[in-house]
Amino acid sequence: MTSQPAFEYVLGSSDPELQRLGRQQAVWSEQTEAWLDLLELPASGAAVLDAGCGPGEVLARLARRVGPDGHLVGIDDSPRWIEVAGERARAEAWPTTELLQGRLEQVGDDGSLDGRFDGIFCRWVLSFPPDPGALVARFARWLRPGGRLVVVDYNHEGVSLFPRSEGFAAVIRATRAWYESMGGSTFVAGDLPRHLRAAGLDLVEQLPVVRSGRPGSAVWSWAEEFFMGHSHSMEQAGLLTAAEGESFRAEWQERSQDPDACFYSPIVVGFAAQRRS
Ligand SMILES: C[S@@+](CC[C@H](N)C(=O)[O-])C[C@H]1O[C@@H](n2cnc3c(N)ncnc32)[C@H](O)[C@@H]1O
Repeated sequence: MTSQPAFEYVLGSSDPELQRLGRQQAVWSEQTEAWLDLLELPASGAAVLDAGCGPGEVLARLARRVGPDGHLVGIDDSPRWIEVAGERARAEAWPTTELLQGRLEQVGDDGSLDGRFDGIFCRWVLSFPPDPGALVARFARWLRPGGRLVVVDYNHEGVSLFPRSEGFAAVIRATRAWYESMGGSTFVAGDLPRHLRAAGLDLVEQLPVVRSGRPGSAVWSWAEEFFMGHSHSMEQAGLLTAAEGESFRAEWQERSQDPDACFYSPIVVGFAAQRRS
């Protein structure tokens, strides 16, 4: 058995994270539909994998796309997310759905996933593991010839708050360091063209999106939930001082009362790549 590098998923599987992921899907739903379009799935009966499916936000969208003859597979390391996705599959009568709990680096080691999928989708996952290139290579193997992989992840440039805030700048530095402390990178989008090519896939589309919003908007709430919620964890991890955390929270509250304040998300890029026929 190959030994895996130390890895701990930083965002966890708590109740607040479950709610955050649901609201995150709502904020990014329109963009996600555009990224899912890049899969170019057959009209019915497609076999699709959501890699790092979490509690099943995207699987629920895929269930509608593949129709009753489709076959869905979700893989996630979190037992809780697999359980929640399973409950949802039953409640919403998704088509045939297999939910596999385990690390993407290990599931399918027996070759059982090779050449199985018309499409593989992977959103906000590859910024966490230490070797995203190795995962892209596995995904390439799991596609049938002509199948497509769509990977959605961060180029963390551009994330900003106006009027400018020192506390916010500190929390952004800490967020990047937090992912890096676990071996990941919030700039993984910069490496993805290289990883896709190395896996023998042809990059066919690159669709970047930036969301922006003022206080009261869904995008503002999405940012608030992530940075407010996780700023305490960053302090506990020693990546943000208590003073920086406090000044971030105070400055964010102040901006939240300013109707002209504005938040810009990081760049989120959807890459579509095809396995040669
Ligand atoms: C930010 S969440 C995104 C969930 C889902 N893809 C979405 O877009 O709503 C990241 C997910 O990836 C999973 N994950 C991260 N690294 C993983 C790995 N190496 N193997 C399996 N799952 C992983 C986490 O458990 C978590 O559910």
